[in-house]
Amino acid sequence: MKIVAINGSAKGKESNTNIMVSAFLRGAEEAGANCINIFLAEKDIKHCKGCHTCWTRGPGQCVTNDDMLSILSEMSGANIIVFATPVYFGNISGLLKVFMDRMTMIGSPHSQKELSQSNNQIKSAELQIPKLIMISNCGLPDRKEFDVVSLWINRVAEKMQMGLVGEIYATQGKYLTSPPEEFKPKINEYIILLQEAGKEIVTHLSLSDAINNDLNRGFASV
Ligand SMILES: Cc1cc2nc3c(=O)[nH]c(=O)nc-3n(C[C@H](O)[C@H](O)[C@H](O)COP(=O)(O)O)c2cc1C
Repeated sequence: MKIVAINGSAKGKESNTNIMVSAFLRGAEEAGANCINIFLAEKDIKHCKGCHTCWTRGPGQCVTNDDMLSILSEMSGANIIVFATPVYFGNISGLLKVFMDRMTMIGSPHSQKELSQSNNQIKSAELQIPKLIMISNCGLPDRKEFDVVSLWINRVAEKMQMGLVGEIYATQGKYLTSPPEEFKPKINEYIILLQEAGKEIVTHLSLSDAINNDLNRGFASV
């Protein structure tokens, strides 16, 4: 199984988001998955110009020359894509939104079968419809901060016809990178839960109610 994570935090490897994603991927790797962790903060991804050239001239033929095609190449053959973001103004980060808009390139109905013909980097045999996982953290303690993120990923899954197999949200994300001493045991338990979630995805392609319930209780009750 191949899992590719797309981290939309401006803080890249240093982000609270990455603590969550890395733990999840660690568990998945222990269960045998091949994982790639991509940080949009390290990439040159320009905004979509909205010209739809990628649909009319051919999928993958974006007028903009930046890191997008090499990321799509890394994503090809993925069984699972993890989208990960901090909450910014009750929403996903700008980095992730810009990336997602450029995914229009593979969103056309004819893209999946034609992308390989127009771009040698992406082989058709490797193209398949992956499942999605959403991972996010926010600063505030209220889980309502994830309402828009959840709505967004559910709409993306619908539009891209990709099954959404997990949503993992953590409030008070700063404790992930810098927990006060009394919080450390709870954070460690949460990290172990994330690893278990990664293992479950590899073995069952879904998250059990038990692990969902534990993850959704957050740090306060783990
Ligand atoms: C521009 C900006 C907007 C933010 N908006 C929210 C918000 O609406 N709700 C919230 O709970 N936290 C908000 N935060 C806090 C971040 O979600 C929080 O610090 C998070 O842990 C950052 O994750 P990261 O380290 O993965 O980037 C915001 C932070 C920034 C920089």
